Amino acid sequence: MPTALVTGPTTGIGRAFANKLAREGYDLVLVSRDEARLKETAADITRRYGVDCEVLAADLTDSVELARVEERFRTGPIEVLVNNAGFGQKKPFWENPVDVEEKQLDLLVRVVLRLTHAAIQPMIERGSGAVVNVSSVAGFLQRNIYSAHKAWVTTFSAGLATGLHAKGVAVMALCPGFVHTEFHERMGMDKSLIPSFMWLDADELVEAAWKDLQRGKAISVPSRRYKLIVLAARFTPRALIARVSTMGLDPRRRA
Ligand SMILES: NC(=O)c1ccc[n+]([C@@H]2O[C@H](COP(=O)([O-])OP(=O)(O)OC[C@H]3O[C@@H](n4cnc5c(N)ncnc54)[C@H](OP(=O)(O)O)[C@@H]3O)[C@@H](O)[C@H]2O)c1
Repeated sequence: MPTALVTGPTTGIGRAFANKLAREGYDLVLVSRDEARLKETAADITRRYGVDCEVLAADLTDSVELARVEERFRTGPIEVLVNNAGFGQKKPFWENPVDVEEKQLDLLVRVVLRLTHAAIQPMIERGSGAVVNVSSVAGFLQRNIYSAHKAWVTTFSAGLATGLHAKGVAVMALCPGFVHTEFHERMGMDKSLIPSFMWLDADELVEAAWKDLQRGKAISVPSRRYKLIVLAARFTPRALIARVSTMGLDPRRRA
């Protein structure tokens, strides 16, 4: 059986990816911090889909723990990597301790860079494999520092996709809009500030992303409404984008 490694697979978009990959017949390596929750997730996926699940408990913002995860790409073949783990922040840049800002930069940018690098070396040697980097529609907008990190993920992935296509390795940035997960509760955001039609379902999002990966897309923006938003953002004045981008954030705290 081929093997896929998913970061942040215990809930939300990562959990939807883990389920989808298991349904597609992949054995899984599951990586996040909460070991008990990882084991529950692994047991549930094995019971439902009959695939093997390996658990790697690691805080990816810790360089020693991240190195253990990078090592996993050298000890056995990984055909698909989903770089998904992430968190958002309610407060703007200037109100957070710089260490918290650096942790977010580490998880959303540095970890994506290092795990992608570790994953693609053996993929290039084998001439096959895929990396999905979970970015965000926010990367096309101006939603706090989060937009800067996600813009990096999208550009990084699209650039790699061009270079690696001829080597048989697919790289895709998945850019979701608002998705029902634990993300907003964890950051303390009031979800009722976002209109209901803006919310996506994680399983439907991942189904659409998987189709886009099979079609060879470098950037996937699931759902017609978010495709339109991304298109409109290219032709909209910066100041207007800034107003729309901060939807759901405390007006006093918009960065
Ligand atoms: N939800 C949205 O509206 C939305 C929209 C666009 C993009 N995204 C992106 O989608 C990705 C997944 O978000 P989600 O909404 O599914 O979030 P979520 O429900 O909060 O899940 C986050 C996952 O990441 C893991 N994680 C967090 N910090 C970690 C760390 N330091 N090391 C290892 N694992 C860590 C969590 O497990 P532990 O806590 O056990 O570590 C959990 O499994 C993120 O990159 C996010 O930026 C989300």
